[in-house]
Amino acid sequence: MGFLICACLLQLLFLGSSPAAAQSPSPARALDAMLQDYAYRAFVRPHTGIVYNATVPADLAGVAVSGLRLRSGSLRRKGFSDYFEFSIPPGVIVQPYVERVVLVYHNLGELSEKYYPLPGYTYLSPILGLLVYDAANLSATGLSELSIVASGSPISVSFSNVRAVPPGSPAPQCVWFDLDGVPQFRGLEANNVCATYRRGHFSIVVNSSEVAPAPGPSGAIAPPIPTNGGRDKGSSDAWKIAVGVVGGVIALGLLALLLVCFVRYKREKKMEVMERNAEVGETLRMAQVGRSQAPVALGTRTKPVIESEYVA
Ligand SMILES: *[C@@H]1O[C@H](CO)[C@@H](O)[C@H](O)[C@H]1NC(C)=O
Ligand SMILES: *[C@@H]1O[C@H](CO)[C@@H](O)[C@H](O)[C@H]1NC(C)=O
Ligand SMILES: *[C@@H]1O[C@H](CO)[C@@H](O)[C@H](O)[C@H]1NC(C)=O
Repeated sequence: MGFLICACLLQLLFLGSSPAAAQSPSPARALDAMLQDYAYRAFVRPHTGIVYNATVPADLAGVAVSGLRLRSGSLRRKGFSDYFEFSIPPGVIVQPYVERVVLVYHNLGELSEKYYPLPGYTYLSPILGLLVYDAANLSATGLSELSIVASGSPISVSFSNVRAVPPGSPAPQCVWFDLDGVPQFRGLEANNVCATYRRGHFSIVVNSSEVAPAPGPSGAIAPPIPTNGGRDKGSSDAWKIAVGVVGGVIALGLLALLLVCFVRYKREKKMEVMERNAEVGETLRMAQVGRSQAPVALGTRTKPVIESEYVA
């Protein structure tokens, strides 16, 4: 009985901790997967080296997605100098090697801040993405991204329609997000030009913590995915922390209960044993007699004394 309760508690404990352990992909990564799918759907009898624009559903209006299929060898030898804002020089190596790749281009437009929120900074340009996938199966979905390394000169990103730097702001910076979503900052190469040796998402930002915070440009945009993102990111983080803390407290409580239950179970077990011993009698032990067990008397009783011994 006690054991059953303990088992139930244990199960509760693990059930209680599992939702925190299960990580769903971030909104930005879920978007990457969706855009890969839309880009691949644009390839109807595709030629290599031709840019195909994808059509996106209404909830992603303003987001531009394109696909470009290339042989890895051609990418390495010739590059591709004019893929929207990206200029890919010769020397770009795909890792791991596949024969043909698809370069997927993203322009997140008004949804940039929603998917790549960056508190303390103001975007001066939409987020542009360059991701690389295996072109072996153009019906495939949920593909994982391939890495690229620019072994010679870097890939340059020449942003168009960059907003003016707000007066009193520090110098603008390039921001690069790899798939983990962690921003990395670097100086601009030239006016509105950033350089990269890798795939990822790029934009130009200014540190806005010194100037009066301007309201985000995409405040009225309806979210296309019913998940948290954009400027909800801060509160979603707070929410996650709160859930974590509450979960931790509950887990601790359950652990304590488990301990108490275990101790009580042990004590009950001990009592049972003691009671049984009391019934059987301290001086009796179980011993093998033939095939069955039977209580045996131990040699601790007062030895019989022959009366005659007292006889003088
Ligand atoms: C693809 O879209 C770009 C603008 O986003 C446009 O300039 C280009 O003409 C389009 N290409 C095709 C083939 O429709
Ligand atoms: C912005 O600049 C200020 C002053 O240079 C600095 O203290 C702050 O850390 C910067 N903000 C961010 C988010 O990097
Ligand atoms: C391509 O991917 C689709 C979807 O994942 C799958 O159904 C199909 O079997 C794949 N084709 C090949 C040749 O691997």
